[in-house]
Order: sequence, then C-alpha cells, then structure tokens
Amino acid sequence: MTAPFSIEPLTGALGAEIGGIDISQPLDDHTAAALRAALNENHVLVFRDQSLTPEQQLAFGRCFGELGQHPYVAGNAEHPEILDIVVEPDDRTNFGGGWHSDVTFLAEPDMGSILYAVELPPVGGDTLFANQHAAYEALSDTMKELIDPLVGIHSAKLQFGGRGYSQRSQAMTTRDADGARESEVEHPVVRTHPETGRKALFVNRAFTIGIKGMTRTESAGLLEILFRQAVAEQFTCRIRWTVGTVTMWDNRSVQHYAVHDYKGQRRRMRRITIRGDRPN
Ligand code: SIN
Repeated sequence: MTAPFSIEPLTGALGAEIGGIDISQPLDDHTAAALRAALNENHVLVFRDQSLTPEQQLAFGRCFGELGQHPYVAGNAEHPEILDIVVEPDDRTNFGGGWHSDVTFLAEPDMGSILYAVELPPVGGDTLFANQHAAYEALSDTMKELIDPLVGIHSAKLQFGGRGYSQRSQAMTTRDADGARESEVEHPVVRTHPETGRKALFVNRAFTIGIKGMTRTESAGLLEILFRQAVAEQFTCRIRWTVGTVTMWDNRSVQHYAVHDYKGQRRRMRRITIRGDRPN
C-alpha cells in the first residue's frame, strides 16, 4: 500500500517523522490503515506543525480504537480521556520521568498514546523512546530461553500508591491511592505484538515489581538486567518537541521517558491513549 504521506526514519532503531498530513482533518480508512502500518514498522510517529483542538485530537485517536482513561490521575474536566500533563516551574519531579510503557498495571494496557505539545520550555523537555523488539532480539539465545516463559508482576503502587513522584505534582491530581497500592496484574515478560507477531521485552522499571515464582533477590537481579537491556542507547531515539508537535507511539513495542531538564520553566502536553488488549 502506498502511504498518502511521507515517512522519514529518525534513527536506525525506531521513530519516523510523518510529513504531508494534517491530522486535525478527518482521516479516510486508507490513511488510517497506512498510519497503523507505519506505526507497526517505526513504533514512534512524529507529526510536526499540527494545530489540534482537544476534540480534533480525540477524533484522531478514535481512528485507531477506543480511548482509555487513566485510573489514578484525574483527566481533563471536559474530556476525561484527555490527560493534561503539566509540569510547573517549581515542580521537582515530572509525570513520566522514568522509563515505562503506559499503564502496564492494567490487565489490558493501552496499546498506543498520542501526545500533543501545547506549551514548552525554551529548551529541554525532550522525550526518549526505546525499541523493545530490538532490546529482546539482541539478547543471547540462553537468556531468551530463560525469560520467554516468565511472567512479570505489574502494579501502580510505586507511582500512584501514595509516595510516588506523581503524588507530588502541583498541577496534576492523583486519585484512588488505595486502588493503586492494591493493584497487581500479571503479564508475560516477553510479549508478542498482536499485529506483527514480533516478540518484545515487556517489563519496565516504573510498574514491574517482580517475576512470578522467583524470590525477591532473584527477581530483582533479573529485572535489573532486563531494565538496562530495555533502554540501552542503541535501541533509543530522542524526540525534540516544538509547540504543535504530535507524537504517537506503540506501548506494545516501546518504552518512553520524559526528561525533566527545565527547572524553572513550564511544560504542558495533552495526552490521549488508545485501549489495548491482554498481552500474550
Ligand atoms: C508520558 O509518560 O506519557 C509523558 C511523556 C512526556 O510528557 O513526554
């Protein structure tokens, strides 16, 4: 299928800039399918110089599926599916400021996220992404055999259970800390992407708290190896934002990290997520 837009890869590992498309306008089925194919191939898509109202962003997201709502962070009052990700000048921490894949503490984590830059510091506030297929594929066969059958335990407790950094944000309101503390779901340590069939590492430092059937020491040691492998430099790309940039990513194949290097400045982003299925 010829894509009705341009695709310019960003690095050898992942990411592509998509040009010649105005995503504020309704997408026809062919364009939506071509974007999905581009996402499966590149994992992170960047659209520059867009101008999106909240409604237009929601409409764009709905071309790819039903939208999610964060269980532990209050959404936008008018549009609960929108998460206003705001870092104030004197916030000491930021939302998303650690390597993670979105909401893996849910039984059916959101498959994708779409982030729109509304207000940015003059410099800084980039977002890093890491390709989890590449991270898995670069492991030794021995390590793959060890981890292929393993099950990871994920929870929201470290981030949203009361003492996590998201609790200390000024502009964002966390909720249901009890629910977050009690949350616990199991996912395969290696998941198979449901659209491409490629395997990917599926553990992250923010939400994966253990490996089923292992002692705390065994699981901490193995997870440390996998957390580092997941985000090794050769698997990453870095997105530099300008106001109006939109980045869409696949949570089944990437982790991301919002860099907080702009103390004294404000950063405001608008995020929506697309619901996903149970990882296999
Ligand atoms: C997130 O974790 O979804 C936020 C990413 C960002 O603000 O760059």
